[in-house]
Amino acid sequence: MRKKAIVIGATSGIGRAFAQLLVEKGYIVGITGRRANLLEEMRVTNPRQYIAKQFDIDNYNSVSDSLDQLTALLAGVDLLVLCSGTGWRNVELNLDYEISTVKTNVLGYTAVVNWAYKYFQESGRGSIAAISSITGFRGFALSPSYSSSKSFQMRYLEALRQKAKTSGNLISITDVRAGFVNTAMGQGAGAFWVASPDKAARQILKAINNKKSVAYVTKRWVLIAWLLRLIPSFIYERIKL
Ligand SMILES: NC(=O)c1ccc[n+]([C@@H]2O[C@H](COP(=O)([O-])OP(=O)(O)OC[C@H]3O[C@@H](n4cnc5c(N)ncnc54)[C@H](OP(=O)(O)O)[C@@H]3O)[C@@H](O)[C@H]2O)c1
Repeated sequence: MRKKAIVIGATSGIGRAFAQLLVEKGYIVGITGRRANLLEEMRVTNPRQYIAKQFDIDNYNSVSDSLDQLTALLAGVDLLVLCSGTGWRNVELNLDYEISTVKTNVLGYTAVVNWAYKYFQESGRGSIAAISSITGFRGFALSPSYSSSKSFQMRYLEALRQKAKTSGNLISITDVRAGFVNTAMGQGAGAFWVASPDKAARQILKAINNKKSVAYVTKRWVLIAWLLRLIPSFIYERIKL
Protein backbone atom coordinates (compact mmCIF):
# COMPACT_ATOMS: atom_id res chain seq x y z
CA MET A 1 0.00 0.00 0.00
CA ARG A 2 1.20 3.50 -0.86
CA LYS A 3 2.29 5.74 2.01
CA LYS A 4 0.33 8.92 2.58
CA ALA A 5 1.56 12.30 3.70
CA ILE A 6 0.26 15.80 4.29
CA VAL A 7 2.49 18.77 3.53
CA ILE A 8 1.26 21.99 5.13
CA GLY A 9 2.59 24.95 3.15
CA ALA A 10 3.26 23.09 -0.09
CA THR A 11 2.65 25.97 -2.50
CA SER A 12 6.23 27.25 -2.57
CA GLY A 13 9.77 26.91 -1.28
CA ILE A 14 10.80 23.97 0.87
CA GLY A 15 7.26 22.59 1.19
CA ARG A 16 6.76 22.48 -2.57
CA ALA A 17 10.11 20.75 -3.13
CA PHE A 18 9.32 18.33 -0.32
CA ALA A 19 5.88 17.46 -1.71
CA GLN A 20 7.44 16.84 -5.14
CA LEU A 21 10.07 14.57 -3.59
CA LEU A 22 7.40 12.54 -1.80
CA VAL A 23 5.51 12.10 -5.07
CA GLU A 24 8.73 10.84 -6.70
CA LYS A 25 9.04 8.35 -3.83
CA GLY A 26 5.53 7.06 -4.53
CA TYR A 27 3.58 8.76 -1.74
CA ILE A 28 0.02 10.05 -2.07
CA VAL A 29 0.39 13.63 -0.88
CA GLY A 30 -2.17 16.01 0.58
CA ILE A 31 -0.98 19.51 -0.24
CA THR A 32 -2.16 22.67 1.51
CA GLY A 33 -1.58 26.40 1.54
CA ARG A 34 -3.58 29.60 1.00
CA ARG A 35 -2.83 30.10 -2.71
CA ALA A 36 -5.39 27.88 -4.43
CA ASN A 37 -3.98 28.61 -7.91
CA LEU A 38 -0.59 27.18 -6.93
CA LEU A 39 -2.17 24.11 -5.34
CA GLU A 40 -4.10 23.48 -8.56
CA GLU A 41 -0.94 24.05 -10.64
CA MET A 42 0.74 21.27 -8.64
CA ARG A 43 -2.27 18.95 -8.58
CA VAL A 44 -2.66 18.85 -12.36
CA THR A 45 0.95 17.70 -12.76
CA ASN A 46 0.00 14.45 -11.01
CA PRO A 47 -3.70 14.16 -10.12
CA ARG A 48 -3.25 10.52 -9.01
CA GLN A 49 -0.80 11.41 -6.28
CA TYR A 50 -1.72 14.96 -5.20
CA ILE A 51 -4.85 15.84 -3.26
CA ALA A 52 -5.15 19.58 -2.67
CA LYS A 53 -6.95 21.41 0.10
CA GLN A 54 -6.71 25.15 0.46
CA PHE A 55 -6.72 26.60 3.97
CA ASP A 56 -5.07 29.25 6.10
CA ILE A 57 -3.51 27.99 9.34
CA ASP A 58 -3.99 31.44 10.89
CA ASN A 59 -7.65 30.40 11.24
CA TYR A 60 -6.52 28.09 13.99
CA ASN A 61 -10.04 27.20 15.12
CA SER A 62 -10.79 25.54 11.79
CA VAL A 63 -7.42 23.82 11.21
CA SER A 64 -8.62 20.60 12.82
CA ASP A 65 -11.71 20.38 10.58
CA SER A 66 -9.65 21.10 7.46
CA LEU A 67 -7.15 18.38 8.38
CA ASP A 68 -9.92 15.90 9.17
CA GLN A 69 -11.42 16.55 5.72
CA LEU A 70 -8.08 16.19 3.94
CA THR A 71 -7.28 13.00 5.84
CA ALA A 72 -10.66 11.57 4.88
CA LEU A 73 -9.89 12.30 1.21
CA LEU A 74 -6.51 10.58 1.60
CA ALA A 75 -8.08 7.70 3.57
CA GLY A 76 -5.50 8.07 6.35
CA VAL A 77 -2.08 9.61 6.76
CA ASP A 78 1.34 8.32 7.89
CA LEU A 79 3.37 11.52 7.86
CA LEU A 80 2.60 15.20 8.40
CA VAL A 81 5.21 17.80 7.50
CA LEU A 82 4.64 21.40 8.54
CA CYS A 83 6.40 23.83 6.22
CA SER A 84 4.11 26.87 6.57
CA GLY A 85 5.76 29.85 8.10
CA THR A 86 6.13 33.56 7.83
CA GLY A 87 8.52 36.26 8.99
CA TRP A 88 9.93 39.66 8.14
CA ARG A 89 12.95 41.73 8.84
CA ASN A 90 11.26 44.16 11.16
CA VAL A 91 13.68 46.82 12.27
CA GLU A 92 10.79 49.28 12.73
CA LEU A 93 9.03 46.86 15.10
CA ASN A 94 5.88 47.17 13.01
CA LEU A 95 3.26 45.59 15.27
CA ASP A 96 1.18 44.18 12.39
CA TYR A 97 4.20 42.14 11.23
CA GLU A 98 4.94 40.97 14.75
CA ILE A 99 1.36 39.82 15.33
CA SER A 100 1.06 38.21 11.91
CA THR A 101 4.20 36.16 12.59
CA VAL A 102 2.88 35.00 15.94
CA LYS A 103 -0.46 34.04 14.37
CA THR A 104 1.11 31.77 11.75
CA ASN A 105 4.25 30.52 13.49
CA VAL A 106 2.80 30.07 16.96
CA LEU A 107 -1.02 29.83 16.87
CA GLY A 108 -1.42 28.16 13.47
CA TYR A 109 1.64 26.00 14.11
CA THR A 110 0.26 24.79 17.44
CA ALA A 111 -3.11 23.96 15.90
CA VAL A 112 -1.48 21.84 13.18
CA VAL A 113 0.96 19.98 15.43
CA ASN A 114 -1.73 19.46 18.08
CA TRP A 115 -3.99 17.84 15.47
CA ALA A 116 -1.17 15.67 14.14
CA TYR A 117 -0.11 14.41 17.55
CA LYS A 118 -3.66 13.47 18.50
CA TYR A 119 -4.31 11.83 15.12
CA PHE A 120 -1.19 9.65 15.37
CA GLN A 121 -1.86 8.92 19.04
CA GLU A 122 -5.23 7.53 18.00
CA SER A 123 -3.89 5.56 15.04
CA GLY A 124 -1.02 4.20 17.12
CA ARG A 125 1.91 5.42 15.03
CA GLY A 126 3.06 8.09 12.61
CA SER A 127 5.63 10.79 11.90
CA ILE A 128 5.54 14.54 12.36
CA ALA A 129 8.19 16.91 11.05
CA ALA A 130 8.15 20.70 11.24
CA ILE A 131 10.60 23.32 10.07
CA SER A 132 11.92 25.64 12.74
CA SER A 133 15.10 27.65 12.21
CA ILE A 134 18.61 28.23 13.50
CA THR A 135 17.33 31.67 14.57
CA GLY A 136 15.34 29.89 17.28
CA PHE A 137 18.48 29.62 19.40
CA ARG A 138 18.65 33.35 20.18
CA GLY A 139 16.60 36.50 19.88
CA PHE A 140 17.51 38.45 16.74
CA ALA A 141 17.06 42.24 16.71
CA LEU A 142 16.28 42.15 12.98
CA SER A 143 13.31 39.84 13.48
CA PRO A 144 12.19 39.63 17.11
CA SER A 145 8.89 37.80 16.62
CA TYR A 146 10.31 35.46 13.97
CA SER A 147 13.27 34.32 16.06
CA SER A 148 11.18 33.93 19.20
CA SER A 149 8.42 32.07 17.33
CA LYS A 150 11.07 29.60 16.11
CA SER A 151 12.23 29.18 19.69
CA PHE A 152 8.65 28.34 20.66
CA GLN A 153 8.46 25.78 17.86
CA MET A 154 11.65 24.04 18.97
CA ARG A 155 10.43 23.77 22.57
CA TYR A 156 6.93 22.69 21.53
CA LEU A 157 8.28 19.74 19.56
CA GLU A 158 10.65 18.84 22.39
CA ALA A 159 7.67 18.73 24.76
CA LEU A 160 5.71 16.46 22.42
CA ARG A 161 8.70 14.15 21.97
CA GLN A 162 8.88 13.81 25.73
CA LYS A 163 5.13 13.13 25.80
CA ALA A 164 5.41 10.48 23.07
CA LYS A 165 8.39 8.72 24.61
CA THR A 166 7.03 8.68 28.15
CA SER A 167 3.63 7.42 27.09
CA GLY A 168 4.96 4.71 24.79
CA ASN A 169 3.42 6.18 21.64
CA LEU A 170 5.16 5.22 18.41
CA ILE A 171 5.17 8.77 17.08
CA SER A 172 8.42 10.11 15.69
CA ILE A 173 8.79 13.89 15.82
CA THR A 174 11.50 15.66 13.85
CA ASP A 175 12.49 19.28 14.40
CA VAL A 176 14.08 20.52 11.17
CA ARG A 177 16.36 23.41 12.11
CA ALA A 178 17.01 25.14 8.83
CA GLY A 179 19.78 27.56 7.92
CA PHE A 180 19.40 29.59 4.71
CA VAL A 181 17.42 27.98 1.88
CA ASN A 182 16.89 29.62 -1.49
CA THR A 183 13.17 30.46 -1.25
CA ALA A 184 11.01 33.58 -1.02
CA MET A 185 11.70 33.66 2.72
CA GLY A 186 15.39 32.89 2.42
CA GLN A 187 16.26 36.07 0.51
CA GLY A 188 18.17 38.95 1.99
CA ALA A 189 21.55 40.51 2.47
CA GLY A 190 24.08 38.49 4.42
CA ALA A 191 22.74 35.05 3.50
CA PHE A 192 25.40 32.36 3.33
CA TRP A 193 25.60 28.55 2.97
CA VAL A 194 22.36 28.88 1.00
CA ALA A 195 20.92 25.48 0.05
CA SER A 196 18.50 24.74 -2.78
CA PRO A 197 14.96 23.71 -1.75
CA ASP A 198 15.58 20.31 -3.39
CA LYS A 199 18.66 19.66 -1.30
CA ALA A 200 16.81 20.75 1.84
CA ALA A 201 13.91 18.43 0.94
CA ARG A 202 16.23 15.43 0.46
CA GLN A 203 17.91 16.01 3.82
CA ILE A 204 14.54 16.43 5.55
CA LEU A 205 13.23 13.15 4.14
CA LYS A 206 16.38 11.32 5.18
CA ALA A 207 16.04 12.67 8.73
CA ILE A 208 12.37 11.60 8.87
CA ASN A 209 13.17 8.12 7.56
CA ASN A 210 15.90 7.80 10.20
CA LYS A 211 13.44 9.00 12.88
CA LYS A 212 15.78 11.81 13.93
CA SER A 213 14.58 14.07 16.75
CA VAL A 214 16.52 17.02 15.39
CA ALA A 215 17.96 17.66 11.94
CA TYR A 216 20.12 20.57 10.82
CA VAL A 217 19.46 21.51 7.20
CA THR A 218 21.93 21.70 5.76
CA LYS A 219 24.07 19.67 8.14
CA ARG A 220 26.85 22.24 8.52
CA TRP A 221 24.39 24.57 10.29
CA VAL A 222 24.97 22.53 13.43
CA LEU A 223 28.19 24.56 13.78
CA ILE A 224 26.32 27.88 13.79
CA ALA A 225 23.80 26.46 16.26
CA TRP A 226 26.63 25.41 18.53
CA LEU A 227 28.27 28.86 18.22
CA LEU A 228 25.01 30.70 18.92
CA ARG A 229 24.46 28.70 22.10
CA LEU A 230 28.00 29.32 23.24
CA ILE A 231 28.08 33.12 23.07
CA PRO A 232 27.42 34.60 26.52
CA SER A 233 24.48 37.03 26.74
CA PHE A 234 26.59 40.01 27.75
CA ILE A 235 28.52 39.66 24.48
CA TYR A 236 25.57 38.53 22.32
CA GLU A 237 23.47 41.56 23.26
CA ARG A 238 26.19 43.87 21.95
CA ILE A 239 26.54 42.22 18.52
CA LYS A 240 25.03 44.37 15.77
CA LEU A 241 23.77 42.14 12.92
N1 LIG B 1 14.18 29.84 3.51
C1 LIG B 1 14.96 29.92 4.55
O1 LIG B 1 16.11 30.40 4.49
C2 LIG B 1 14.47 29.39 5.87
C3 LIG B 1 15.39 29.33 6.94
C4 LIG B 1 14.97 28.84 8.15
C5 LIG B 1 13.66 28.39 8.32
N2 LIG B 1 12.79 28.48 7.27
C6 LIG B 1 11.43 28.02 7.50
O2 LIG B 1 11.04 27.12 6.49
C7 LIG B 1 9.62 27.13 6.37
C8 LIG B 1 9.26 27.19 4.88
O3 LIG B 1 9.64 28.46 4.37
P1 LIG B 1 10.20 28.66 2.90
O4 LIG B 1 11.57 29.14 3.01
O5 LIG B 1 9.91 27.47 2.08
O6 LIG B 1 9.31 29.94 2.45
P2 LIG B 1 8.13 30.15 1.42
O7 LIG B 1 8.53 29.75 0.05
O8 LIG B 1 7.66 31.53 1.65
O9 LIG B 1 7.01 29.11 1.89
C9 LIG B 1 6.17 29.36 2.96
C10 LIG B 1 4.97 28.43 2.85
O10 LIG B 1 4.15 28.68 3.98
C11 LIG B 1 2.81 28.80 3.52
N3 LIG B 1 2.09 29.67 4.45
C12 LIG B 1 2.47 30.88 4.92
N4 LIG B 1 1.52 31.38 5.73
C13 LIG B 1 0.52 30.45 5.76
C14 LIG B 1 -0.73 30.39 6.40
N5 LIG B 1 -1.16 31.38 7.18
N6 LIG B 1 -1.51 29.29 6.22
C15 LIG B 1 -1.08 28.28 5.43
N7 LIG B 1 0.10 28.27 4.81
C16 LIG B 1 0.89 29.36 4.96
C17 LIG B 1 2.94 29.42 2.13
O11 LIG B 1 1.79 29.11 1.37
P3 LIG B 1 0.63 30.16 0.99
O12 LIG B 1 1.26 31.52 0.87
O13 LIG B 1 0.07 29.62 -0.27
O14 LIG B 1 -0.32 30.06 2.14
C18 LIG B 1 4.14 28.68 1.60
O15 LIG B 1 3.75 27.45 1.02
C19 LIG B 1 9.13 28.33 7.19
O16 LIG B 1 8.66 27.88 8.44
C20 LIG B 1 10.40 29.14 7.41
O17 LIG B 1 10.35 29.89 8.61
C21 LIG B 1 13.17 28.95 6.06
